[in-house]
Amino acid sequence: MDLKDKVVMISGATGGMAQEIIKILTTEKSKIAIFARREEKLKEISKNITKCIYQKCDVSKFEDVKKAVDFTNEKFGRIDIAILTAGILVPFPIQTFNSKQIRESLEINFMGNVYFLEQLLPIMKKQKSGIIAVISTLPDKRGVPGWGTYGASKAALSWLLESLRAESKKRYNIDIITIKPGSVKTPMIEDFNRRGAISSENAAKLIVNGIKKGKKVIEFPLFQVLLTKITNLMPVFAYDLFPIEESKGEGFPQVEEKL
Ligand SMILES: NC(=O)c1ccc[n+]([C@@H]2O[C@H](COP(=O)([O-])OP(=O)(O)OC[C@H]3O[C@@H](n4cnc5c(N)ncnc54)[C@H](OP(=O)(O)O)[C@@H]3O)[C@@H](O)[C@H]2O)c1
Repeated sequence: MDLKDKVVMISGATGGMAQEIIKILTTEKSKIAIFARREEKLKEISKNITKCIYQKCDVSKFEDVKKAVDFTNEKFGRIDIAILTAGILVPFPIQTFNSKQIRESLEINFMGNVYFLEQLLPIMKKQKSGIIAVISTLPDKRGVPGWGTYGASKAALSWLLESLRAESKKRYNIDIITIKPGSVKTPMIEDFNRRGAISSENAAKLIVNGIKKGKKVIEFPLFQVLLTKITNLMPVFAYDLFPIEESKGEGFPQVEEKL
């Protein structure tokens, strides 16, 4: 697929992966609409791109998402591709289990994308074409100690996207793509020193190439994909033998608990 003059909107555009995706789209001469909460950073990113519009957007706010989609559609007249990357990763120690943190992750990682889907689908249905590529995560099938809130929000997201995929394609010619990265060196994981993390440049190349090739699921890096597939097959007793501190990883906060 040629991305020249394609209208591409991106959420979480100030993020590590998104910024690299934007660089590729600029080279491909796409028309780009970028959204995130940090407006100054959006302004800076858009400065050297000829066809780039931006607007502040907090994906946890329905009205912000509606405005972002309307803004793109009004300025460019259509929306060919949405690459939805906005997300947060928050450690979730069992010692401080709380619903507030779970709600926040669900509002951003899950509902944020739900709001986009709600706004994008009618536009793309009318166009009889469109691509919605959303970043979930590679380990979206089994729980991981310490990361329950992130995993729950991404598992819900993967489930939703997979439920829509076949029907949106057959009925409306809309491609829904689930992007499942393993570890990628971005600000999101800089405190957690993940082994085997690939660069955000490589991740962006894999994402854009996957979209161009019409992949339904884009997952990487290969070693982590294989490891995850094996882990998914493990019986529960063997899965639970995995060392908890190892699952939490380096940089996971130590929590003092008073019972
Ligand atoms: N890095 C990894 O290893 C990895 C692995 C698997 C999946 N992922 C997923 O990949 C996606 C991109 O992450 P990244 O690694 O590039 O991390 P990142 O550099 O932290 O970027 C995430 C971006 O999301 C935006 N964001 C957060 N909350 C938002 C909100 N309420 N509204 C709008 N934007 C919001 C932030 O922009 P503002 O602060 O400007 O709003 C931030 O720049 C995320 O969905 C993440 O969960 C990452």
